[in-house]
Amino acid sequence: MSLKGRDIISIRDLKKDEVELILDSAEKMESYARGEKVLKLMEGKILGTLFFEPSTRTRLSFTAAMQRLGGQVMGFSGTSVTSIAKGENLTDTIRTVERYCDIIVIRHPLEGSARLAAEVSSKPVINAGDGANQHPTQTLLDLYTIKKVKGRIKGLNIALLGDLKYARTMRSLACALAMFDADLTLISPRGLEMTSDILSEIENNYGKKPFQTNDIDAGLRKADVIYICRIQKERFEDKYEAEKMQKAFRITPEVLSQCKDEVAILHPLPKVTEIDPRVDEMKCAKYFDQTFYGVPVRMALLALISGVM
Ligand code: NCD
Repeated sequence: MSLKGRDIISIRDLKKDEVELILDSAEKMESYARGEKVLKLMEGKILGTLFFEPSTRTRLSFTAAMQRLGGQVMGFSGTSVTSIAKGENLTDTIRTVERYCDIIVIRHPLEGSARLAAEVSSKPVINAGDGANQHPTQTLLDLYTIKKVKGRIKGLNIALLGDLKYARTMRSLACALAMFDADLTLISPRGLEMTSDILSEIENNYGKKPFQTNDIDAGLRKADVIYICRIQKERFEDKYEAEKMQKAFRITPEVLSQCKDEVAILHPLPKVTEIDPRVDEMKCAKYFDQTFYGVPVRMALLALISGVM
């Protein structure tokens, strides 16, 4: 099994044993990710990070990952100072950047953009989020976090809560959790349910039928893990509608008092209003640990794709 030279555009691009290889390799990267030991595995290599949409964690943890591996990073965050502002198309940007670096990481608002970049580029391309479609490396670190926090994924009851229609993190993660034999509960405001393509995929490929509800209390009682995300306001035509939905969905200590004692709360972040700040101090809040795990997981992925691990 080798990931050398591979594009990672969708979580569907990875088989279960390949995901396991990445997660096992991430474990080996942890002390390097913390800076306790130094690695030179990717010395002389350059990662190109092209962020056409805002990002804090994904871009910075890819940067930290490449630097902890001894490599270097170049790229942009926002297009106003690039030739895209002059009207250059994505294809020409990719054809240029692939000549400057060894692996490309791209985040772009259009679904399918990362796939297009991969078709154009002779260098491996990693999708860091294409519109509402996919965010496979977030899913890898989410799986890693669940394993770290709960010791396993199989058989857990995992509640995905929030905007299941537009959140790429949810769409990627739902498929991966089904692949790892978790039981899914899908909780969303009315109108933001998981789309039927993902539901059919989960059923046809893994024989899983998630429990779906619009009732937050009913959905959370059995959960071992609650994975919550914000309403993806930027993908709504009507921003007032998004704000209304934002208010209706909120995790508070009171809501959590009905949940299992050992429940873990995860969130890809950024969070806006969907988690009461008092929850941040509770032992169930694991989302800042989750952000750290992005570094060893992305280190493992970069090293495997470059063939140095
Ligand atoms: C997410 C994203 O960009 O999809 N953030 C992330 O990568 N950690 C989640 C979001 O924006 O809601």
